[in-house]
Amino acid sequence: MSSLVGKSVLLVVSGGIAAFKIPDLVRRLRERGAAVTIVLTEAAKQFVTPLTLASLSGNKVYDDLFSLTDEIEMGHIELSRSADFVLVAPATANIIAKAANGLADDLASTLLLATDKRPVYAPAMNVRMWLNEATIRNVAALRAAGATILGPADGVMACGEFGPGRMIEPLEIVDGLEKLLSADASATDRPLAGYRAVVTAGPTREPIDPVRYISNKSSGKQGYAIAAALAAAGAQTILVSGPVDLAPPDGVSVVRVETAVQMLAEVEGALPSDIFVAAAAVADWRAKSVGAQKTKKGPKGPPSIELVENPDILATVSKMKKGRPRLVVGFAAETENLIANAKAKLNRKGCDLIVANDVGAENEIFGGDKNRVAIVDKDDAQQWPQSAKGDVAERLVALIASRLATI
Ligand code: PMT
Repeated sequence: MSSLVGKSVLLVVSGGIAAFKIPDLVRRLRERGAAVTIVLTEAAKQFVTPLTLASLSGNKVYDDLFSLTDEIEMGHIELSRSADFVLVAPATANIIAKAANGLADDLASTLLLATDKRPVYAPAMNVRMWLNEATIRNVAALRAAGATILGPADGVMACGEFGPGRMIEPLEIVDGLEKLLSADASATDRPLAGYRAVVTAGPTREPIDPVRYISNKSSGKQGYAIAAALAAAGAQTILVSGPVDLAPPDGVSVVRVETAVQMLAEVEGALPSDIFVAAAAVADWRAKSVGAQKTKKGPKGPPSIELVENPDILATVSKMKKGRPRLVVGFAAETENLIANAKAKLNRKGCDLIVANDVGAENEIFGGDKNRVAIVDKDDAQQWPQSAKGDVAERLVALIASRLATI
């Protein structure tokens, strides 16, 4: 299946004779499953008509920066940002010069200035224009800004001269876009390919007798979202999970446990890894002795339960002498003095980062779908806005990837 399926391409057509190939390009893009929206320069309209391109693309064709209707339907900024790709074909010497120098005097050049994508250009011009010092400088400037230049090819020009300057064929442009997508997929979408990650999530259950236990309100949502985001970023991910009501995330191996002692054993079994994220709400204490039978009510009143401390999984992993993960991320669930307590936890437990969340009842973080966290390391504390747990997870995984790239 083509990697272009479901992608949207904003195709900017500038005014060169090669524009006669654009209907074929639109057809090829659509054949591979891409949606195409077209912007024409005034000059392009001399070579290909808006009506032809609207029919072939199945979309409105845009050409006027100042069209009120167009601005109401979709503003030019939105138009430049909503597409997955911005493709300029044919890219004349003129539009290349405008884009390289930040000029914005029509819809096409304004879009190229306003876009947050790195445009792909398929140049087409006379050989002398392509080899001109100014064009060489402009193309170099676009490349330096992250643009991709596909072509041009050598050949006989419409003007009869021979040399580089002919737009590459529509199929070659489409293949070029597909190659870019797969390169991006490995470099951008899967920055953790080749890494191993271990994540803890959910509560632990510490038995008192065969039917009762000590636990907490963790649903596992935050930890599961982190495991899912790590796997989506390419990491081979093992999730050691307390008892929760969640399906295993795609591509993640889930190991289910009940108690803190079991969780530690499974984490140790899952190591070594490059990344360890401790999102579980591990019970700090467990009953010193677990009754073999259900504890009965009796004349002496309620029983007293002697507690002993559970092993600290995060601290154990952080302080490993051999095989410590390169990046250890803990959480801090606090109801007061969020940053100060998180910093103290970071130092005490020896991890590299703490994700601090204020779990006061009013915030509904335990069990809820949203979280508001601060990222604390030894130098800094950074508050992130409240967002869905999946978004927190994705942002955290991007941070993990960038930290790993520098250590
Ligand atoms: O599961 P959800 O409903 O989505 O809620 C998410 C969450 C609130 C549980 C999560 O965001 C969170 O804050 N997890 C950590 C909860 C916690 O136990 O915090 P803590 O401050 O008590 O512990 C600090 C760190 O030490 C945590 O990384 C914890 O996993 C770890 N720890 C604690 C005790 C222990 N015995 N072993 C540990 O590894």
